[in-house]
Amino acid sequence: MKRFPTLTVSNHPLIQHKLSYIRDKRTSKKVFKELVDEVGTLLAYEITKNLPVRAVRVETPLETTTCNVIDSENVVLVPLLRAGLGMVDGVRNLIPNCAICHLGLYRDHETHEPVTYYFKPMQRPENRMFIMVDPMLATGGSAIASADMLKQSGAKDIKFMCLVAAPEGVEAFQHAHPDIEIFAAALDDRLNDDAYILPGLGDAGDRLFGTT
Ligand code: URA
Repeated sequence: MKRFPTLTVSNHPLIQHKLSYIRDKRTSKKVFKELVDEVGTLLAYEITKNLPVRAVRVETPLETTTCNVIDSENVVLVPLLRAGLGMVDGVRNLIPNCAICHLGLYRDHETHEPVTYYFKPMQRPENRMFIMVDPMLATGGSAIASADMLKQSGAKDIKFMCLVAAPEGVEAFQHAHPDIEIFAAALDDRLNDDAYILPGLGDAGDRLFGTT
């Protein structure tokens, strides 16, 4: 029995190669962002492997044939602000017509409860595939609250995509949302006392946006 039945970690050599440079503290901001984009594209390829297709007639230069297309506007990317923004371009390279539904949460210092400060729900959510993106699945707190929000808005088909997951975060997320598959480039060792993932890659938002 798998410890984390909802987790898929990609062992694709390209993803593993690129992640090694993403982790490296010497990697420049420019290269860091480029690599996050590339891994985002590769993970999106895996995550969308069961997207429904629709038959269309296409005229090739020689004859008419039946081909498959996806309804790309039914794919909704949900970047969890702020660091999730860094993974948007990579997915959009692959699915340029996907919708982008930003979701911003912060943790109230006194109540420790997540507070939503930005969310514009999608219309007709029941027909769409939602892909939540956040580079780090650390404690799982904001991912769980974000998935709660999406479900409250009517979303049925939700997936979660990250670069690096901590066992603590995967455990908490799969307990709260056993129906949501998690796709990660790596499952790391543990969280430190400040809830950073070890070995991790540092603060993803700071490295993406230069706020160190
Ligand atoms: N957020 C980050 O950016 N990095 C971590 O290691 C954990 C949470």
